[in-house]
Amino acid sequence: MIRVCFVCLGNICRSPTAEGVMRDLVEREGLGSAIHVWSAGTGAWHVGEEPDPRSAATAARRGVKLTSRARQFTDGSFAECDYAVAMDAQNQRNLQQLAKSDADRGKIHLLRDFDSGSPKGSSVPDPYAGGPDGFENVYDLVEAGSRGLLEHLKRKHGLAR
Ligand code: 4NP
Repeated sequence: MIRVCFVCLGNICRSPTAEGVMRDLVEREGLGSAIHVWSAGTGAWHVGEEPDPRSAATAARRGVKLTSRARQFTDGSFAECDYAVAMDAQNQRNLQQLAKSDADRGKIHLLRDFDSGSPKGSSVPDPYAGGPDGFENVYDLVEAGSRGLLEHLKRKHGLAR
């Protein structure tokens, strides 16, 4: 089982969207028993909450249901994932600060680095304090990154249906 954890700040907007989109892509390819997807936030403010209604509505319009409950990513969370996929450069730095070993550090990635159409180091911008366009943009960027990540996992781990 390959375990993927998407990581943002609050775990109510970007990473729950990535979790929902990626799980949908994985299930469509019949890979649900090979790839486990979850998400977490580096901050604790929203622990236990459902996804932000704006994220949930945006995903629902695209046919994806968001089902996560917010969790905090801690130093112990590296043991629960093989890929810790950050939404932005700040989340990536926060993960690097939490990492306790080279093995932990080796799990850290930036989502948009898997999207061949994005310059290296690109972020999925935090939509929380902005308007509805931000949530549509998040969805598009997350979908492109998740497609690229899934292709990477299939190639790297030799996954076939
Ligand atoms: P997320 O968005 O990191 O995509 O879940 C945010 C949600 C909440 C806050 C910041 C970003 N906040 O400051 O409460």
